[in-house]
Amino acid sequence: MLSFHYPDLEIIVLAAGKGTRMRSRLPKVLHPVLGKAMLSHVLDTAETLTPQAISVVIGHEADQIRATIGEPENLRWVMQSEQLGTGHAVQCCAPVNEGCRDVLIVCGDTPLLQAQTLASLVEKHRSADASVSLLSAHLEDATGYGRVVRDESGAVLRIVEHKDAHADEQAIQEVSSGIFCVRQADLFRLLDQVDNSNAQQEYYLPDVIPLAIAAGTNVQAVVMDDANEMSGINNRRQLADVEAAMQQRIIYDWQMQGVTIMQRETVRIEASVMLGRDCTVHAGCQLLGATRIGDGCELGPYTVIRDGALDDDCCVQAFSHIEKAIVANRAKIGPFARLRPEARLDEDVHIGNFVEIKKSVIGKGSKVNHLSYIGDTHMGSDCNIGAGSITCNYDGANKHQTHIGDRVFIGSDTKLIAPVFVDDDATIGAGSIITTNVDAGGLTLSARPEQRHKSKWRRPKKD
Ligand code: UD1
Ligand code: MG
Repeated sequence: MLSFHYPDLEIIVLAAGKGTRMRSRLPKVLHPVLGKAMLSHVLDTAETLTPQAISVVIGHEADQIRATIGEPENLRWVMQSEQLGTGHAVQCCAPVNEGCRDVLIVCGDTPLLQAQTLASLVEKHRSADASVSLLSAHLEDATGYGRVVRDESGAVLRIVEHKDAHADEQAIQEVSSGIFCVRQADLFRLLDQVDNSNAQQEYYLPDVIPLAIAAGTNVQAVVMDDANEMSGINNRRQLADVEAAMQQRIIYDWQMQGVTIMQRETVRIEASVMLGRDCTVHAGCQLLGATRIGDGCELGPYTVIRDGALDDDCCVQAFSHIEKAIVANRAKIGPFARLRPEARLDEDVHIGNFVEIKKSVIGKGSKVNHLSYIGDTHMGSDCNIGAGSITCNYDGANKHQTHIGDRVFIGSDTKLIAPVFVDDDATIGAGSIITTNVDAGGLTLSARPEQRHKSKWRRPKKD
């Protein structure tokens, strides 16, 4: 990932607004976009610039936002108890650190924003020796945005908010992204002069532009290459649009890193997922949360993995479900397998169809191939667990452990009533119900019902 170094830059993230249009109990900036809070996307991007400090302005549901994001180093939470406008929000951050040359202001609801775009704004701001630089974009439909008003020579004069704009101003298609880079020495002096005589009776940050011009300093609007990056999220439709755009970006990135993705429009790969080289992700896969996949893995159609960790060359067949499980090299899983939290598969393990593993270790080379439940179990290496075998771990009140040694062979449809211990090299006959510990080696089997044969019996016929 690209990273930049701006030790003389402070970044201010505006996130105090209510987000009314989300119609949600959750504060807007905590809504996840591909599994990661909107605000975390913006903060990670800000972090990539390695600034001197990051200040986040919060107000609405401030405690919940702080509790979710935590207290990263060099992050400063700033309270804006009353939301009096974007200019007022920035003012709440005064004073900015000593030695800070410029202040970069971004919004907490624009997760598509890329560090490269911010860095190039800072560079252009510095090379133009500007007091205020603004990122702008050309939009087909500029409704709702502040419009960039320029004079005949093309110089920026001011921003007019949608609600304050006359019809001829509303026709302008160049809009403000709300992202500013301002010389630190000028910022708060300019903000002190901003008033709230406008349609919303708010202190608008963009109003620093005409004030900076009046003070005889340079002002510029830098047009973004990709207008999508400034897409803000105000409602759930925009949330879905932004998520789709980010998904496309992430999938393209993984393809460039050497991952084959089939029918990519059906695949979900969340923002924090990591994939190795030469993986193949089939149609309908969902790779979620903090999932980590090694090199050369095959993830079959409609596999769902949440917070799972797979080493190299694993093969997961269709419709398998893996959650918080750890899987070593060359495991074969599925189709229709379920690995639940704290399942740990060692190397070369096979887990077949309709098998559920929970809170258990399955040792190297062991096979549980058909229709089994293994829970609260420690299994050694090279075991073979027959179809339909079950560890009966729950007595209705407590969970109990099953221990299975190395090279154990368990016949089909065996019930192991935990707590129970099966020693190395034991063989258990099909259909056994095991209630006491099993010694090493030899054959163990529980009593079987007598088998009878009625030679004269005939099948009933239809009347
Ligand atoms: C703002 C800009 C507009 C720009 C648009 C781009 C102003 C006055 N308008 O409009 O020019 O085209 O963004 O998306 O700046 N916030 C606070 N405290 C406040 C008010 C807002 O922290 O008192 C935060 C909000 O949480 C949000 C951001 O500032 O993250 C922008 O506020 P919002 O109300 O969404 O402004 P827009 O109307 O979108
Ligand atoms: Mg907005």
